[in-house]
This record gives sequence, C-alpha cells and structure tokens, in this order.
Amino acid sequence: PSTGLRDARGRQLRDLRISVTDRCNFRCVYCMPKELFGRDYPFLERSELLTFEEIERVARIAVSLGVRKLRLTGGEPLLRRGIENLVAKLAALRTPDGKRVDLALTTNGSALPVKAEALSAAGLQRVTVSLDSLREDRFQAINDVKFPLARVLDGIAAAEAADLGPIKINAVIKRGVNDDEVLALAEHFRGTGHTLRFIEYMDVGSSNGWEMADVVPSAEILRQIGEVHPLEPLTPTHPGETAKRWRYTDGAGEIGVISSVTGAFCGSCTRARISVEGKLFTCLFANEGTDLRALLRGGASDDELAAALTGVWSARDDRYSELRAQVPPSQSPTHRRIEMSYIGG
Ligand code: GTP
Ligand code: 5AD
Ligand code: SF4
Ligand code: SF4
Repeated sequence: PSTGLRDARGRQLRDLRISVTDRCNFRCVYCMPKELFGRDYPFLERSELLTFEEIERVARIAVSLGVRKLRLTGGEPLLRRGIENLVAKLAALRTPDGKRVDLALTTNGSALPVKAEALSAAGLQRVTVSLDSLREDRFQAINDVKFPLARVLDGIAAAEAADLGPIKINAVIKRGVNDDEVLALAEHFRGTGHTLRFIEYMDVGSSNGWEMADVVPSAEILRQIGEVHPLEPLTPTHPGETAKRWRYTDGAGEIGVISSVTGAFCGSCTRARISVEGKLFTCLFANEGTDLRALLRGGASDDELAAALTGVWSARDDRYSELRAQVPPSQSPTHRRIEMSYIGG
C-alpha cells in the first residue's frame, strides 16, 4: 500500500524492536565479553528503564503509525521481572482496522522452562531462541557462564509445549568457532517443524573485535547443507524480512540465512528500535538515538509523541550494512556504535 509513514528512502515503519533490559545471564564472548561486562559494569538502574506503561504507550502510538510487528529483546528479555505483564499489555493492542499485531520475543532460552507457559497465556505468539552450538563444551565456552546446553534444549521443548511454535532458532556462525557445526545444527532441527536461521557474524557494537575473516558467508552455509540435503528457495513471508528462506526439497522443513554482511537488506528495512531507556534508534548500527523517555516523562501528549516518531522516521536515511561494503569498519574508527546487548539486535 502507498499509505503510511515513509522514511527518506521510501521505507515504511512496520516493525518495532523493544529492548526491555540491558542485562543478560550469559556472557557470550561475541556480545558481552566478561572483560568488558564485569561485576562493576554500569548497567542501568531500574528508574532509568521505561516502565511497562511507557513501553505500551510508545508501542500503541507506533501501531497507530503503521507498525504491525513488535519484538521484545534485551539483553535477555526474560530477565525483566514480570515480563508476562508487558506481553499481556502488548497483546491487547489493535491496529486501526482492529487486528492483532504480530508479537514475538528473542531469548537465549535459559528461562523458557519456567516462563514459556506464562508467556503463552499472556498472549505471546512465538519465540526465537538463540543457539550457536549443540556441543556441550562449546556451548558453555560461548555463553562463558557454563550454562548447560540441555537447559536451553528444554526451553525449546517448553516453548513448543506451551504453543509458542513454530519456533525460530538463531545460530550465529563464526569462523573457527562453530563453522564445523553447520550440518549438525541443520540436521538436529530438520523435520522438527522449527526453523533454524544461520546468521552472519556482524560488526555490532565496539566490543566484539569483529573482523571480516570471522564471517562465514551464507552462500557457503547453503552449499554445505545443500550438498547433503538439497534446498530450494522460498518466497519471503513479508517484504523486508531479515532472513532468506530455503526449504528442503524432501519436505523436511525450512531454514533461513541472515546475510547482513554479504547481502545487506537495508533497501527494504522497516525496523525501528527502542532502547531500554527509551531512545528511538532507526538503525542497529546507529550511534545516537532520540530520547522518547524525556517526552514521556515530560508530559507530552499522544499527538506530540506521534509527531516525534513521525519526524524521526521521515528523516531516516540509514543503510549501514550497505555502506559497510564500501567503507570497512576498520577505516572508520571514529564511528562508535551502540552495543548489541543494549539494543537487542
Ligand atoms: P523474524 O523475522 O520475525 O523471525 O525476526 P528477526 O530476524 O527480524 O529478528 P531476530 O531477533 O531473530 O534477529 C535475527 C538476526 O538478525 C540477529 O542477528 C539480529 O541482530 C539481526 N537483525 C535483525 N534486524 C536487523 C536489521 O534491521 N539489520 C541488521 N543488519 N540485522 C538485523
Ligand atoms: N552478529 C550477528 N548476530 C548477533 N547476535 C548477537 N551478536 C551478534 C553479532 N555480532 C544475535 C544473537 C541473537 C540475535 C538477537 O542477535 O545471537 O540471536
Ligand atoms: Fe548472548 Fe544474547 Fe546475552 Fe548477548 S544478549 S550475551 S548474545 S544471550
Ligand atoms: Fe536496517 Fe540499519 Fe540493519 Fe540496514 S543496517 S537493515 S538500515 S537496521
């Protein structure tokens, strides 16, 4: 449709990713390395976080402006106390034509055994679980807090039992770390009805020491799997999707590849992000956001908030992943980016 809010490149605002905490119980080496996120790391105070009422208000206004998908992220979103109460508020939102919005959550899965049932009862429709390895030693080395693999697999099972499926599984593949597990991961989830997505390791934030050599291109992943289990492309579920979908020709389900390094998808990017302290970011790689919390707490009306969102989105020109291909991050050392654990991917 030609109606709706558009940015400077003609892209609509369709998705809102909401970070509900900057904390995580994992210390994944590529996201929250222990050396940087130690005991004295200045995580935000509770009073600095948007309240559930504030989040609900921003989401409601965003939905009135065209947003059709809400995704809760972190840090680890299930660490936010009472998260199911926020889910219930968001599940009650309706589009101008009376429809529900797509409501999802990205989690490390560790708390799903205890939370899945309550989340589902509150109205969550689906979850995405991050899982980078199926080898106990390696999984624990990646999360760096000795968190057992079995508990995350239990979490996936709990989500399935709670009707939060079909579940998406996110695996970030990093050269020399888990690139030898591509086929094993694929085979583990083949035929389960869950969709495994392979993610190219990205240069998010400034603390993961990213290098191009760490990236395993999606083409290589598709080749490795396709040699054993033939694949064919599927059409996108909706435009602007992060993942390219592929199905096993034998009917054993589908996988996805998220190629933000070798195949930037900025051209159709319809995502905005709200940080845990209420800053609005128009790109995962932005270095500055717009302070919505100041407006929320300063007595702004719904119309004023809508005008602020509209103003920011209309001016949006971001396409970082496309530009990265032209100016490698190593050549722009002044570009300080927000951390993944702060903005939730
Ligand atoms: P669905 O399509 O609803 O399943 O979710 P999603 O892929 O949009 O979100 P998810 O949280 O599962 O993220 C998957 C991967 O894509 C993560 O590595 C994110 O950091 C990355 N990602 C999500 N949105 C963007 C984006 O706009 N730009 C880039 N470069 N990466 C993104
Ligand atoms: N590159 C790609 N994906 C990442 N994630 C975390 N850090 C990175 C990175 N540097 C993933 C997490 C989670 C999702 C929200 O982002 O594993 O699945
Ligand atoms: Fe790992 Fe996700 Fe936690 Fe980052 S936010 S440390 S990727 S579990
Ligand atoms: Fe969207 Fe920025 Fe990601 Fe490009 S890099 S797809 S503009 S969030």
